[in-house]
Amino acid sequence: MTVRNLFLLPGDGIGPEAMAEVRKIIAYMNAEMAGGFTTDEGLVGGSAYDTHGAAISDADMEKAMAADAVLFGAVGGPKWDDVPYEVRPEAGLLRLRKDMQLFANLRPAICYPALSDASSLKPELVEGLDILIVRELTGGVYFGEPKEIIDLGNGQKRGIDTQVYDTYEIERIAGVAFELARTRNNRVCSMEKRNVMKSGVLWNQVVTATHKAKYSDVALDHMLADAGGMQLVRAPKQFDVIVTDNLFGDMLSDVAAMLTGSLGMLPSASLSAPDATSGKRKALYEPVHGSAPDIAGKGIANPIAMIASFAMCLRYSFNLVKEADNLEKAIANVLDKGVRTGDIMADGARQVGTVEMGDAILAEFKALSA
Ligand code: IPM
Ligand code: MG
Repeated sequence: MTVRNLFLLPGDGIGPEAMAEVRKIIAYMNAEMAGGFTTDEGLVGGSAYDTHGAAISDADMEKAMAADAVLFGAVGGPKWDDVPYEVRPEAGLLRLRKDMQLFANLRPAICYPALSDASSLKPELVEGLDILIVRELTGGVYFGEPKEIIDLGNGQKRGIDTQVYDTYEIERIAGVAFELARTRNNRVCSMEKRNVMKSGVLWNQVVTATHKAKYSDVALDHMLADAGGMQLVRAPKQFDVIVTDNLFGDMLSDVAAMLTGSLGMLPSASLSAPDATSGKRKALYEPVHGSAPDIAGKGIANPIAMIASFAMCLRYSFNLVKEADNLEKAIANVLDKGVRTGDIMADGARQVGTVEMGDAILAEFKALSA
């Protein structure tokens, strides 16, 4: 039987509550569908800091590297606001991304029909929205060196981050965007700031050259990232795939997430290049939302983004396409039936907590898989 090794990193805040709902689905798939999942679990973020004094331990890092896929909850919270910068909760996530070389971050923003009223935009602008942001995840200003605060000696300090991209980094993320566009509506919009940034000029040149060399069948547009942000809230349905750098992708994906009604809805996948011999990609799946410390432990968090991240895991790491489709359909059906967590509550809907939402999705998944 196929063995599928999952490494779970629930993290902080609402991460563990959301992960508990995914565990139920894994248990069901193992019992009834020969899922073959083995799970091991580690600590990341503040919880890792409390235990190991690091945002992720070397031992857990090794397990993450060896797993077929990592499921990640969320990190951070006010409790760790004052820990040293090097071991702040986010450092665990950044180390996972960097060490596993997860350069391709896929952030789909899909507006479930039942939720078009929950968006801050008019329903007609978001109904049927289905865009994919492909964010470069291991380069740019989040990782570039120098990265420091220096004392200028005159009572002033200087904070420095370095935005840097090499040709190969832009080529490979553009390649992922074009390949994915071919499986969708065949359109890519690349966003940068070539009007003020040298890295933006290079980004634009390399995306254009990659398109010309290998992907001229895909329609390609370029937009300045600020204008892109404006277009995302003006007319989001004009986009199919958006490819952009680490910083702009971070911001634009939060914007896109909110178009769909709640940050609690959006999953993501972070993938490495395929291994030269095995062809397998290292992968980490995480909700786009954070640890939401204000509602942690109350049993009211929305587990949908976490469950939808597991659906992406089924699709991209294990090629379980039917199962992934069914899990996504289960989420849509539950929303259609008017079941809602507080963040997406609407008039006439039935408000439930984290566990009930997870149960409802599992019940629907079972029915669809029967
Ligand atoms: C995200 C988050 C992270 C990022 C933080 C938690 C480091 O905002 O995944 O979008 O900045 O990439
Ligand atoms: Mg972010």
